[in-house]
This record gives sequence, structure tokens and C-alpha cells, in this order.
Amino acid sequence: MSLLIKNIGLLVVDRHGKQRLQGSEMQSLDVLHDVWLLIEDGRFAAFGTEPVPDGSPAGIIDAAGGAVLPSFCDSHTHLVYAGSREGEFVDKINGLSYEEIARRGGGILNSADRLHAMSEDDLFRMSMHRIDEIIRKGTGAVEIKSGYGLNTADELKMLRVIRRIKESSPVKVVSTFLGAHAVGRQYTQSQYVDLVVNDMLPAVAAEGLADYVDVFCDRGFFTPEETTRILEAGLKYGLRGKIHGEELAPSGGVEVAVRCHALSVDHLESMTDEDIQMLRGTDVMPTALPGTSFFLNMPFAPARKMIENGLGVAIASDYNPGSTPSGDMKFAVSLACIKMRLLPAEALNATTLNSAYAMGLSRDYGSIAVGKVANFYITEPIPSIDYIPYAYTQPIINKVYLNGVEV
Ligand code: NIG
Ligand code: FE
Repeated sequence: MSLLIKNIGLLVVDRHGKQRLQGSEMQSLDVLHDVWLLIEDGRFAAFGTEPVPDGSPAGIIDAAGGAVLPSFCDSHTHLVYAGSREGEFVDKINGLSYEEIARRGGGILNSADRLHAMSEDDLFRMSMHRIDEIIRKGTGAVEIKSGYGLNTADELKMLRVIRRIKESSPVKVVSTFLGAHAVGRQYTQSQYVDLVVNDMLPAVAAEGLADYVDVFCDRGFFTPEETTRILEAGLKYGLRGKIHGEELAPSGGVEVAVRCHALSVDHLESMTDEDIQMLRGTDVMPTALPGTSFFLNMPFAPARKMIENGLGVAIASDYNPGSTPSGDMKFAVSLACIKMRLLPAEALNATTLNSAYAMGLSRDYGSIAVGKVANFYITEPIPSIDYIPYAYTQPIINKVYLNGVEV
């Protein structure tokens, strides 16, 4: 099956073949004008400047002068959840902090109670609704975490829902076991860490339900020692770490990520200059979640400083009911530019190739390169790539293709 997209005003391609972009490399975006793009068997096969080449593809699509970009890769979400938490939103407006809300039994524990009460089928249906929403907004690959179960049965329930999403949606899904998101209600801290290591992880691994393991390594949640123990246990089952760190306070999460060869360390709103230096020369992808800073009204991760120190940065949504009830990656790009002073090219690379890397997917996803999976979107005609974050609430995406098929 071949598909030709013709009359493309702007096409963002990857002719460097790198798995991630770091430091000043993040500024480079290869934009071609007045081009065509050929897809064969669900993968990018060729591109070039108009006129279109000879041949008779099975399908021809007229992009009508719009831009074609690689789908967003959202490397950090909690989009399987049982209900919204707008009551806490109002609590925050009234001055309560994220930690105070958590201490009063709100926050993650509130979501765990709701998830416990909901059937797997209903949870699946609700989550698929969110998946369809982010596909329409341009996301082509997404990581989804467990972590609203907080006991073995409910963690497995969440991960089975993620597996069903994997099987039934055209979006590429990566699954992360986040048992250590908070301490489940019926346990002490140390009982719960034992449960994660001795009960949950073996059960998750036995059913092959996760690709990665995550820990909320932060003040009031899990210590660097507990995080190390859980990550090392995960590695025994072939699960690499993806850490929540340095959000509420400098938490030691970066150090653990580097020591345990984690794939990414995410949040980083409170990261220090030493953390930035520690990440240099490592394989760990620092990941900023600007939607969380925006919604919780707290500092943004120092992404500009990280890039200036030679690091690659990924950006993800953190879509979840407490700290970021949005999976809108175009808005995350705008926030990255406006609030973290990333250039549009840097923010686009951070939400595509680098975030694909943060899911272990950048060989096949994250850019328009010959041989990669044909996940992309077509916009209405726009004057330049910089227009994307500039038009920060305008829905400019006209058509979405996943695996070379319009969805
Ligand atoms: O990444 N920081 C920890 N976990 C989530 C929030 C989860 C919640 O509040 O439900 C986050 O922001
Ligand atoms: Fe998160």
C-alpha cells in the first residue's frame, strides 16, 4: 500500500538519523518547502520537492499547502484514571499546596479510591476517550503509567487497561509500572516498598504488563534509597527506570537516575546546577512537564539552562487528574517557548524525537525519516513553523495519520 501526500507547504524532516538531539543540536529543524511525501506499508518511504514523481500510488492526498510534521510523542502520562479532581483545583485556588492536599487524603489517594471502585471495562472506556482526544491533537506515541492502584490487584487492573489500549488503538503505547506513586492506604511506608518489590513487580513481570518502572522520588513520597531499591529490583526483570524527581524539592532523583541507568528523569522543577552537571555525558533524558508547572502555578524546570549545558531535553504532558488535566502537546510546546524560553525548533524537537527517546522508541518514531513509522499530521496552511507555538490556542491540525492511515 502506498500513499502520496502532495502539495505540502512545509515539511519537517530528519536527515541526521540521530536517536536524540542535545545542546545546540536542538535548534536545528530541517524544513522543506513545496514538497511531496511518499508512504509505503505504513512507513515513510521518500520525500522531495514538487512536482510529484512518476508512478501510481494507491492513494493521493492533497495537503492543500498545509504543513506536515511528525506526530508528538508524549513520554509521560497518567491518563488511565477514574475521574476528575476539580474540587482540588478549587482548593488550590484557595491556597492549599499540592502536598497539603495529599496529606488530607486528596491527591493520588483520592484517585486510587475512585479507581478501586470502577470496573476495568469502564476504566478502559474512559481512558480510550482520552486517547482519542490526544490523537486528534496530534499525539502518535504515548507512555501511560500505573500508580492509581496502590495495591497489587488494582495496579494490575490499571496495567491490563493499558495493555488493552495498546491492543485496540492505532497510537503507539508504552507502559510504565508506577506502583511507588504514593503509599497505599492500608500500609506503612516500609511495608509498601516491600510490597512493590516482593509482590507487585514479580506479578507485573509475570504477565509482561510493563515496559518500564517508575518511582515518585520526592519529599513526602519515596526516598532515594527506596527508589534505588525499586529500580534495582526492576532491572532484574529487564525493566529500566523512568523517575519522577526533583519536583517538590531537590530530591536526589537525578543522582539515582544516573546511578541506575534510568531512561529518563522527569519533572525537575527543583533541580540544582549540580543535577545538570551530573546528567552530562549520560544516557538519561531529562524531561520537563511545563503543563504541570502551569497548572500548579509553580516554577518551571530549567530547560534553557539544561540545553545551554549541552543536555538534550524532552517535553511531555504529564496528563493526569491532579496536576495536569490536559494531554495537549501543542500547548506544551507553547508553554516551553513562553515559560522556559525554548525556541520553537527546540520545543518541537523536545516533544517529538527526544520524547520518543524517553520512551525507548526513537529508532522508529519521533521524526519524518525514511524507514520510520508514518505517524504525522497535516495542518492548515501556516506561514512558518514558529507559528505553531505562537498560535497557542488555535487548533491548526486538519488531518492525523498513524501507521500511514488517516484516523
Ligand atoms: O506527575 N508527581 C506525581 N504524580 C503526578 C500527579 C499525580 C496526581 O496528582 O494524581 C505528576 O504530576
Ligand atoms: Fe507524572
